[in-house]
Amino acid sequence: MQLIDGKKTSAEIKQEIAAEVAKMVADGKSAPHLTAVLVGHDGGSETYVAHKIKSCEEVGFVSQLIRFEDDVTEDELLKTVDMLNKDPKVDGFIVQLPLPKHIDEQKIIEAVSPEKDVDGFHPVNLGKLVAGLDTFVSATPSGIVDLLKRYNIPTAGKHCVIIGRSNIVGRPLSILMSQKGIDATVTVCHSRTENLKEITQSADILVAAIGKPGFVTGDMVKDGVAVIDVGTTRVKSDQTKSGWKLKGDVDFDSVSPKASFITPVPGGVGPMTICSLLKNTLKAAKNRTK
Ligand code: GUN
Repeated sequence: MQLIDGKKTSAEIKQEIAAEVAKMVADGKSAPHLTAVLVGHDGGSETYVAHKIKSCEEVGFVSQLIRFEDDVTEDELLKTVDMLNKDPKVDGFIVQLPLPKHIDEQKIIEAVSPEKDVDGFHPVNLGKLVAGLDTFVSATPSGIVDLLKRYNIPTAGKHCVIIGRSNIVGRPLSILMSQKGIDATVTVCHSRTENLKEITQSADILVAAIGKPGFVTGDMVKDGVAVIDVGTTRVKSDQTKSGWKLKGDVDFDSVSPKASFITPVPGGVGPMTICSLLKNTLKAAKNRTK
């Protein structure tokens, strides 16, 4: 069993991005600029956004954090999105999800200009992905494909089983994995799937993205499977300073002895998602300077 080290791989990718940024700046162009919008004080969102901002600094991007309290109105948020759409200094921006219940998330996603949608959540960008066109691919699916490539995990003709059909992970990943060049045979499973175990047992690549800690157990996988664990549920822990720890969707202890490759949680897919966001922002900046 080989552990897929997302931390190490993401550090390598960040170095590559930093080198490109240094070259851009040496050529007299301005560094890529990412803005993050954060609403409220959700612990998970605070951590993710802090990592995103810190990573921007590491690769030489300019970054900006715009914060709102939980009671921000949808109108105020839409005005900020409009301002960022029009701001020529901002190459790309994200509105961290989830948003408070009184705000229509889809409305906000659709208000972001597709050219600045470095999350790849806008329907125009999702549609381009489906059509096989160049676009911003959402961070987690893109990070997973990078990991598979960098670890030379075979995908062509292989059965990739994805548990979860969200617009952010499962669905776009299913499109990517079946694209020419990756060429996997893809099955998307979800809460209504019958015979789940039978399907997961036939997976060469198994991706768990359902947000249920420890859901995938050793009896559900075949020997030699490559396992990608997208789950990052925060559970209470008396072993950490913060009092919380992240738990994946895969029961690592029972699955890892059967796996050829497996991502740990934390340190697997998580660090890669930030790289994908940085890559998308770099791409948006290059589009600007074309
Ligand atoms: N919440 C959880 N993951 C993401 C992400 O990739 N982008 C945004 N904007 N919010 C998230």
